[in-house]
Amino acid sequence: MDKVKMLYEGKGKKLYSTHKESILVAEFKDDLTAFNAEKKGSESGKGELNCQITSFLFELLEKNDIKTHFIKRIDSKNILCKEVKIIPIEVVVRNVATGSLTKRLGILDGKVLPFSLVEFYYKDDALGDPLINDEHCKILDITQDVQELDFLRHQARKINSVLKQFFDSKNLKLIDFKLEFGKDADGNIILADEISPDSCRFWDKDTNEKLDKDRFRQDLGNVKLAYEEVLNRILS
Ligand code: TMP
Ligand code: ASP
Repeated sequence: MDKVKMLYEGKGKKLYSTHKESILVAEFKDDLTAFNAEKKGSESGKGELNCQITSFLFELLEKNDIKTHFIKRIDSKNILCKEVKIIPIEVVVRNVATGSLTKRLGILDGKVLPFSLVEFYYKDDALGDPLINDEHCKILDITQDVQELDFLRHQARKINSVLKQFFDSKNLKLIDFKLEFGKDADGNIILADEISPDSCRFWDKDTNEKLDKDRFRQDLGNVKLAYEEVLNRILS
């Protein structure tokens, strides 16, 4: 399906309208950003890797009864998806402490959490995506319906159990990841955005080598090689 008009450009993707109502094309970009885009870079071929990884994982989730915006992959860096109104919450699931959690609470980096932690961050670049709770969601009028927030948590846990088990079978530890949900034309809440090494942390099960965007955030090098390794393991 042809792209008609660019509707939105985010840090990792561009969204285009198509000739069909409520059907969009998402194009995965090679750009890399970190720390609320204070750090910028680019890695040729990264968009194609994330497009393939996201397509595979959304198909896996659909097979496990998780409704997503994903329709199909069109080519190496474009997918067809349902238009949704994004709920401005970044839903983060953590299995192992690292990143901002260790900084915020002083938990030892690499500590396996006693249960999977689900957190909400307010999706607002100007504010630096602050951590929020259910009452903040009401005050910000993200929703007045706590059941919707419970649904997000429930879906996030379900997605975590599918992905954690899948990556474990590929010798990767799913450390943490970020999800975004949206409402479709019928008002159903479905998973949107992407699931890729840009939005997840993966550590090798044997060596704890980081195979995700932390390689860019922390200047560890071999960013593209790491993303390729994740795709190769997914497809193996
Ligand atoms: P954090 O430890 O920096 O809060 O990140 C938690 C997870 O969320 C990690 O897998 C990276 C992902 N993430 C995003 O996808 N986008 C973001 O803007 C941030 C801050 C984190
Ligand atoms: N995605 C965010 C940014 O582009 C932060 C991050 O992933 O580290 O700035």
